[in-house]
Amino acid sequence: MTTARDIARAYLPGQYHYWYARSKLASDPLYDGVGAALDGCDHPLLDVGCGIGLLAHTLRARGFRADYAGVDIDARKIEAARAAAAKAGLARVRFDVLDLAADFPAHRGTVCILDVLQFVPRSTQARIVDACAACLAPGARLVIRTGLERDGWRLRITRAIDRFSERLGWMRGDPPRYPRREALEAQLAQLGLVARFEPLRGRTPFENWLVTAERAG
Ligand SMILES: C[S@@+](CC[C@H](N)C(=O)[O-])C[C@H]1O[C@@H](n2cnc3c(N)ncnc32)[C@H](O)[C@@H]1O
Repeated sequence: MTTARDIARAYLPGQYHYWYARSKLASDPLYDGVGAALDGCDHPLLDVGCGIGLLAHTLRARGFRADYAGVDIDARKIEAARAAAAKAGLARVRFDVLDLAADFPAHRGTVCILDVLQFVPRSTQARIVDACAACLAPGARLVIRTGLERDGWRLRITRAIDRFSERLGWMRGDPPRYPRREALEAQLAQLGLVARFEPLRGRTPFENWLVTAERAG
């Protein structure tokens, strides 16, 4: 069985990504949640804003065998993702640098976009969701994790941490803008998708939701 420590070791000798992977995998239910959302779905996967590619490792560890492609604007993260995937011997995995504000990769299959939407302007968010939906093959899924614009202390903490990440240079862009649930629901429905919204926070204090969508019928 591949453990969180095994996955993190692929990011060595760099200590920074090693410890990031250890703490992220230990504290955030994201990758288990996405893995469960994709169980039984073996379409090629596009990971939009993939960061250092942790999803590729966690999905392979749970038996996901289809092609995986990750894109991210941050060339250093893509470099770390490529090196770690090679070290872990992940097959049929590729990573490319791409700015979603300017471009979107050609893809047919499943799409994941995890903790990314809040880092692009609202007008770009809508365009990215349209582009993700256009990639969906019949039976394939669109999996989104995002904070949602709602009242309450959880969103205040989420926003503070996202701003902190930007100040430290972990994230680029403007202050975070969380999608509004009603707008996202309406857009997905208009695109002909049936969507399920579930909180995905685990024991974290964040206002995080997992949205799983498929073509209706
Ligand atoms: C919070 S990280 C999430 C990383 C990954 N999805 C995960 O959950 O492990 C957000 C990612 O979005 C990427 N990102 C932000 N704006 C982007 C853009 N315009 N184009 C491509 N990637 C972008 C950042 O570089 C960062 O890696």
